[in-house]
Amino acid sequence: MKLTRAENGLRGTIRVPGDKSISHRAVMFGAIAEGTTTISGFLPGEDCLSTISCFRKLGVEIRQEGDYVEVQGTGLHGLQEPDEVLDVGNSGTTIRLMLGVLANTPFHSCLIGDKSIAKRPMKRVTVPLKQMGAQIDGREGGQYTPISIRGGNVKGMHYVSPVASAQVKSAVLLAGLQGDGVTAVTEPEKSRDHTERMLRAFGCEVQVDGMTVSVQGGQQLHATHIEVPGDISSAAFFLVAGAVVPNSRIKLQKVGLNPTRTGILEVLQQMGASITIENVQNEDFEPYGDVTVEYSSLRGVEIGGDVIPRLIDEIPILALAAAQAEGTTVIKDAAELKVKETNRIDTVVDELKKLGAHIEATPDGMIIHGRTPLRGASVSSHGDHRIGMMLGIAACLADGEMLIENSEAAAVSYPTFFAELQRLQQ
Ligand code: S3P
Repeated sequence: MKLTRAENGLRGTIRVPGDKSISHRAVMFGAIAEGTTTISGFLPGEDCLSTISCFRKLGVEIRQEGDYVEVQGTGLHGLQEPDEVLDVGNSGTTIRLMLGVLANTPFHSCLIGDKSIAKRPMKRVTVPLKQMGAQIDGREGGQYTPISIRGGNVKGMHYVSPVASAQVKSAVLLAGLQGDGVTAVTEPEKSRDHTERMLRAFGCEVQVDGMTVSVQGGQQLHATHIEVPGDISSAAFFLVAGAVVPNSRIKLQKVGLNPTRTGILEVLQQMGASITIENVQNEDFEPYGDVTVEYSSLRGVEIGGDVIPRLIDEIPILALAAAQAEGTTVIKDAAELKVKETNRIDTVVDELKKLGAHIEATPDGMIIHGRTPLRGASVSSHGDHRIGMMLGIAACLADGEMLIENSEAAAVSYPTFFAELQRLQQ
């Protein structure tokens, strides 16, 4: 895709698509609940469609039309042995949470994904799930896909996770829900808590004590209606665009404001961005509100510690903001970036360097010296949706034409991203 600078800024209102993490969970929990779950505001992006496709292969009836979904739940014991492999595409959340769901199903399943999934570490979930009783094997001792699983006889355990990962926490809790006894997960820092919130919405009891979350096994999930708020990780691209492209003002409606996800707002405000939040609603389940951003001059900051899990997916676009901020930005404690859809330390640094940014990789993050004028270049998403969208926003600032290879990757989480970007430029 070819893009040019947004000469007159970006102006207008956007309703970003549904939250990816919440959309996956609504389908999964609906599938193992009793009764019919309805979902509005569902994200019809490739990742969440992979989740639907996998559950259909497990015998679950699912109707999806755009952002509306109906799931005919089978109950905890109603999934059926699939006669095809379960293909998760590019989706780490699908494979890791599905392994948790399948940990107690008394049948065989085989999971595969695309080239990126084949490089992403799975032992972080296969190790605890095997300790709980599931039989799992996979390439390199259960580290990589293809992975096969035969579930059954799950026993509760207290798992102390070495990483702050909502995917690990959720996989272990989903296994524990179906097993005997209590299952607890302790994390080094708090990761996103959508699983805890949604289990409660499905009628389950979940205990939270500091960094430890626990559930009693054998609880039945009851179908419900889930309203999915807009994805703050998708909104993040326009939040940064509005802050760094001169003459911009963008209003983002119904953006999810779960406190375990709002690190991006706090950091942008620390950098000096003009951001206002209005009409906050739905605080009992997943809060959302309208967020307006205006162009302002930014300054560099240090980003590290327990805010990292609260903005991990926003680091590619924050790196671009940092390249447009006065002074130095240091991003640290973010080694998890290396095991995302791409190694995002490398892909962010390599692509932003091509545009003239002063950015260097560190073992657990990056250092960016701003503020640098950017020039158009031939760049690549490397098949990573968030890298492709970050480069789309960079194009709005760059002098000269930008050619983004494999920009279609955006469809994983935000199929209409480039159309919206164009619309704001008129
Ligand atoms: C997700 C958790 C995070 C995040 C991913 C979605 C989830 O991954 O990066 O995009 O929905 O649970 P980790 O659990 O690996 O931190």
